[in-house]
Parts: sequence; structure tokens; C-alpha cells
Amino acid sequence: MTDTNANTKGFTLTDNSSNQSWDLPVLEGTAGPSVIDVRKLYAQTDCFTYDPGFTSTGSCESKITYIDGEEGILMHRGYSIEELAEKSDFMEVCYLLLHGELPNVAEKKTFENSITYHTMLHEQMMNFFRGFRRDSHPMAIMVGVVGAMSAFYHDSTDISDPHQRMVASHRLIAKMPTIAANAYKYSVGQPFVYPRNNLNYAENFLMMTFSVPAEDYVVNPVLARAMDRIFILHADHEQNASTSTVRIAGSSGANPFACIAAGIASLWGPAHGGANEAVLKMLQEIGHKDRIPEFIQRAKDKDDPFRLMGFGHRVYKNYDPRAAVMRTSCHEVLAELGVEDPLLELAMELEKVALSDPYFAEKKLFPNVDFYSGIILKAMNFPTSMFTVLFALARTVGWVAQWKEMIEDPNQKISRPRQLYTGNTGRKYPNLSDRS
Ligand code: ACO
Repeated sequence: MTDTNANTKGFTLTDNSSNQSWDLPVLEGTAGPSVIDVRKLYAQTDCFTYDPGFTSTGSCESKITYIDGEEGILMHRGYSIEELAEKSDFMEVCYLLLHGELPNVAEKKTFENSITYHTMLHEQMMNFFRGFRRDSHPMAIMVGVVGAMSAFYHDSTDISDPHQRMVASHRLIAKMPTIAANAYKYSVGQPFVYPRNNLNYAENFLMMTFSVPAEDYVVNPVLARAMDRIFILHADHEQNASTSTVRIAGSSGANPFACIAAGIASLWGPAHGGANEAVLKMLQEIGHKDRIPEFIQRAKDKDDPFRLMGFGHRVYKNYDPRAAVMRTSCHEVLAELGVEDPLLELAMELEKVALSDPYFAEKKLFPNVDFYSGIILKAMNFPTSMFTVLFALARTVGWVAQWKEMIEDPNQKISRPRQLYTGNTGRKYPNLSDRS
């Protein structure tokens, strides 16, 4: 039997059965909770810590993104997400995440040029798309094609070379919109559209997704700005499931393309990036505001697996700041397109009912970034199957920045958690003929 006693500089862990105790140092960050350093715990005590789902575990040191879930604060490199979404653009945010500082004019131009001139895919990669079934989920295509990049770009897979790491980072950020647009084009049976260097990142993506060779395509600046803002809002979110997956994959020394493919696979799940797709399906299933109480009741019922999609977050116990920006953007896009989507009305009513319900208040469940993003994307004509793909596209920079930070961390080790074993032990092997 053990217990912990807090003191000002650290914790003392006491084993009550042997009366032994150990001092555990506490490390302070620049913001957020301190961490108890348990790195020597196993060697000293012969015990592991136990934390399935990592609810109390800091897995790394990072300088990239800070979240205060209680206050609903999200900052990249010290800048608030609200200010970045309002004043910055996605290319600048990418530079900030990768390099730690906002670029000056010359740095921004050089970075944008590098991204622009890496947007084309190796022509042979087009055959990969054609190998998939037409009805493949675009996330399945994305996992496969991004993983396959390591077979095409051998000159940026040496992770010990800083230049190759940077080239791989630029390639991933630059090619992801082309891959995402191709996955969409393939699913609707239209020809792939090549990137154009006179367009910016968001414009290029919209053009590659929605233009057809038969007619000219003019990018709507309001939609391009909204797309850019959606990318900013999804750019990074510290050690979430997909980012941790990228870090764990990368900790073994795997090449960056394989690591990002692993991140995409992790993002796909409905508890993570798949939630925006699930929100729209849920709103369509609810159908009318009269049915909201029924669905709220189901969300509260422990015997019903239904959860209110787009609600709740492991870290935010307050309104997700990205959801607030997304809601405003949603109104702007719908107004620009002249769309009156009953699903937006339904979503706002659902939010109101849920936030006034004691269950959601007590459990601190608020709308997360996915609650409104699906409605904007639907208005922009993206099919629901593309929602998570857009999330992956935008999150690529965060994954890449976190992967680079990990590789450059002198304390980096292969990630290898341990376990609490509760299975059988010491069994004697019975011959097949003796088994009943
Ligand atoms: N609807 C109803 N109840 C919920 C919801 C919800 N959306 N989310 C959490 N709860 C309840 C749980 O039932 C649990 O209740 P209990 O304490 O009585 O058992 C309590 O709130 C805590 O929930 P956990 O699942 O333990 O919290 P966790 O941090 O593990 O999960 C998660 C967070 C996965 C996001 C969860 O809130 C969820 O499933 N939400 C819906 C899916 C979603 O929107 N995901 C997107 C996340 S944001 C992103 O990835 C971009």
C-alpha cells in the first residue's frame, strides 16, 4: 500500500508496507500544470505508473502548442488561436509551428515558394490512386498514398540529416492538398487537376478539388479565406491521439512519411478526427429540433452507446476556442453562399439545450472544433467523407513540427510503455489430444 504526500518542491512516495520512501522531483513548465518526474521510478521502486489513456501523463517536453482546457485557451508558440485565425494565414502558421517564430517578409516569401514548388506529385503516384476501388473512403486512400511517399522521395528519408528533415516537412505540407484533392476526384470519377503556382495554398486546394478541365474556375475569396481559417484552426493541438501516434512511430527512427501515415490512421477514428463527419450524420438523424430532447436523453443514458458528437474533449473543460471561431466562420460562409441550412439552426438549438442541461454542465461537456466545421464544409460542397481528410491535411504541419521537435530532442528515446499484466502465468502446455 502506497501513498503520495505533496510538498512545495516535489512529492514523496511512501511504501507503507516497507516504510521506504522516495522523493519525486517536480518539473515546472512556462505554463500549465507541473509534472512529477517518474523516469527513475521503476529503477528505484520496482513499480510502474499505471495510466491507461494517458489521462495524467505528460509524454514529452514541447515548446509548440499550449492548451489550458479549464479556461478554453489555445496558443501556438505563445500566440492565441483567436489572433492567429483573425490576423494570420495558414502559411504563416505553418512557418510559426515549424520554426518557433513568425516569418519576416523575406522568410515568408521563401517558405511559400518552397511549399508552392513542392505541390506536384511524382507522376507515377497517380497510378496508386487508380489502383483503389472507386468507392474507397478517401481517408483509406490518404493513409496508403502518404505511406507510399517514402517509396518515391528517398532523398528526404534520412532522419539524421536536418536538411532532409526540412525537405520532408515541406513535401508533406505541400503535397497533402494535392493528395486530398486527388482522392476526391478519383471518388467522383473526374480527372485529376494539377496544382497551379499562381494560387495560394487554400485557393489551390479548392481549385484542385472543384475545378474541371471543361471550364474556367474562379476561386471565391470568401471561401478561400474560410478554408484557410479552417486549416489554421486544425493546424496543431499538442499531444492528441494522432500526434502521439506520429511521435511514437517516429521514436523508432521510422521515416517521416510512414510516421504521418500512422497519424492519419489514428485521426480517422470517430472519437478524434472522424467526429466532424459523425456530427453531420447525427444532425441529419435528429432531423428536427422536436427530437433534440430524445437524443439528449440518449446521450445521458449509460446503457446507450450514443454520445453527442462534437461535444466533450479530453482537455477542454470549457468552450473549445476553435469552436467559437468556427461558429462565426460558419455564419459568414453560409451568408456568402446564400445557403440557409436547417442543420445550422438545429446545431445551435442542440448546443443551447445541451449547455443548459445539468448532465453536460456537471461533466463540463462543451462543443468542440468539430461541432460546426461539418456544416461549413457541407455548404462548401465537400462530401462528408472528405471532412476528416481536410482535418488531416491541416494537421499535417502540426504532426511534422512535433515529429521534428522529437527527433531534435536530446532526451528522445524509443517510446515503449509498460503494462499491468493480469493474464495467466506459468501454465504447462497440454498436448492437443489431452484438451477437452
Ligand atoms: N456525449 C455524452 N456524454 C459524454 C460525451 C458526449 N459527447 N463525452 C463525454 N461524455 C461523458 C462520458 O460518458 C463520461 O461520463 P461518466 O463520467 O459518467 O462515465 C464523461 O463524460 C467523461 O467522458 P470520457 O469518455 O471519460 O472522456 P474522454 O476524455 O475519454 O473522451 C472524447 C473525450 C472522446 C472527445 C468524448 O468527449 C467523446 O466521445 N466525444 C464525442 C466525440 C467527439 O466529438 N470527438 C471529437 C474530439 S475533438 C477532436 O478530436 C478534434
